[in-house]
Amino acid sequence: MFCFFKRNCLERYPPPVIMADGRWREISIRLANAGLFAVAGVQAKLMDIENPNDIIDSAQKLGIKGVMTEEILEEILEKNISIQEPIGDNKKNTETNPIADLVPILDGTAESTNIPVKGRVIAPINDPETIPASRPHNLPHFSLSDFTMPANEIDTEIEIHFDITGNSITEGKMSDILSCFNSRLEKLKRIIVQSGRLRNIPTDITQVIRNRTRYSSYENTASIVGLVTDVRYNGDNLYFNIEDKSGDIACVLYPARATESSPEAKRRNNIAIAGLMNDDVIGITGHFNPGGRSDKFIIDDIHLPPIEKHEKRTSGPDKAVSAAFISDIHVGSKTFLEAQWMKMVKWFHEDPLAKTIKYLVLSGDAVDGVGIYPNQDKELEIVDIYQQYEEVARLTELLPDWVETIILPGNHDAVRPAEPQPSLDPMIQQYFNRATFVGNPCDFSLHGVRTLSYHGVSIMDFVSSIKHVTFSTPEVAMEEMLERRHLAPSWGGKTPLSPEPEDHMVIEEIPDIFVTGHVHGHFCGDYKGSTLIQSSTWQDQTGYMRMLGFQPKPCILTVVNLYTHKTASIPFA
Ligand SMILES: [Fe+2]
Ligand SMILES: [Fe+2]
Repeated sequence: MFCFFKRNCLERYPPPVIMADGRWREISIRLANAGLFAVAGVQAKLMDIENPNDIIDSAQKLGIKGVMTEEILEEILEKNISIQEPIGDNKKNTETNPIADLVPILDGTAESTNIPVKGRVIAPINDPETIPASRPHNLPHFSLSDFTMPANEIDTEIEIHFDITGNSITEGKMSDILSCFNSRLEKLKRIIVQSGRLRNIPTDITQVIRNRTRYSSYENTASIVGLVTDVRYNGDNLYFNIEDKSGDIACVLYPARATESSPEAKRRNNIAIAGLMNDDVIGITGHFNPGGRSDKFIIDDIHLPPIEKHEKRTSGPDKAVSAAFISDIHVGSKTFLEAQWMKMVKWFHEDPLAKTIKYLVLSGDAVDGVGIYPNQDKELEIVDIYQQYEEVARLTELLPDWVETIILPGNHDAVRPAEPQPSLDPMIQQYFNRATFVGNPCDFSLHGVRTLSYHGVSIMDFVSSIKHVTFSTPEVAMEEMLERRHLAPSWGGKTPLSPEPEDHMVIEEIPDIFVTGHVHGHFCGDYKGSTLIQSSTWQDQTGYMRMLGFQPKPCILTVVNLYTHKTASIPFA
């Protein structure tokens, strides 16, 4: 049968590189909107066909989605089905409104929770002009009847659980660093031990080494909980050290043999294939091989801190409002998409769905900043950092006054880069007549719905350490953060960390909504009961991104009903 448009399909069939001329651009947009993905040979044939839209329409009528191979194309051509009549409402909208075709409404409340929500891949470079709202509200799953009253009639209810602002006490001493790691180890060890998944009560590493003859077989094992260091591969075997307060020990993780199918073997295999991050906290069970040449601790079973299926809290029906999420608007940059911002402002004032939005969370990089990277001044429209923030204030205050904006800093903002970052400076905050400023990360509740917002710089460390995480799948990095119960495990990687005596980057409470930004992608979906949002940027592709071949997914507003947790992704590109 035909392969649907899932992540594994995309990995097996990576998008071919095409120099998109106007005709191919038009075809590719039609394909994307139909959930189709043409392999290289099919692309050439579609370019040769006089009216490729008929083929795409026929594919839709046949229920074909996902990768379009040459065989599938032949099948469609054989059946030679041309569309005589519109297919349902979507088709009617498409024909009557060409803009609707370019900016499809995207639904993040997918039945299958791992289906990524698609955003536009190519950021158009438009002349600044405000295009009227492209369509009326038409999201049947995001029913307005779920909301008993408009957001402007419901009081703001933000409860902050963690924000480093005013609470940073580190002096940057070695003792602070040690304290930070001890805090991490204690918090995560408690979670691992309380899960009851370890085979034995954990033993201090020095005790394990001292009694090595006792732990000499698969039947006579010891369990350890500690911090991972010095991760490296030799062939398929994963080597690392693990340390606790008492000492450290060299370990080896062999992938399971093909004949092994136990849960332990699967866990070993998963970690052996994916890899570990330096400074992860894990629990292991293993033994020594007294007859062998290696003195390493051989791992029989391995656990990250567990994350169970989560039951979301809700605002309740009487306080049903929506929260909207964006990030990385990079005001001040020449590539800030102002026309698309104005389109969103207009939508906020006109669309019935917008009247349900009580909160707008902006997860960092509100401005492009100054001196963030070499020669940045050549790419700046506004070269003064304060004027950049003045412009952010002007732009956010164009939104209706019932929308409460919550602003976190990111790595482009004018605060210390080390995480946790405090909120923007009070001198900058005074430009805003109304906004709530919090640090990065921030753990807060909106009408009781627990939300963890983190700008996401550590996604880069996850990409470089965990094999199946890529920049185009930042949501997988977010899943790995939840699995580790930590936002940024690796010290000395790409994420600058402040050694607070208590490690506040530990995810102690599973969030109902977990949101990041930074990599300018877009995703909205569910992972083990938490809604994951990789919030969309409002910046076009920069020269640096072009050089790396990175395509942002800009100008998509992600909206969550805090009562039902239904989601919608509204594109403005
Ligand atoms: Fe950014
Ligand atoms: Fe960033």
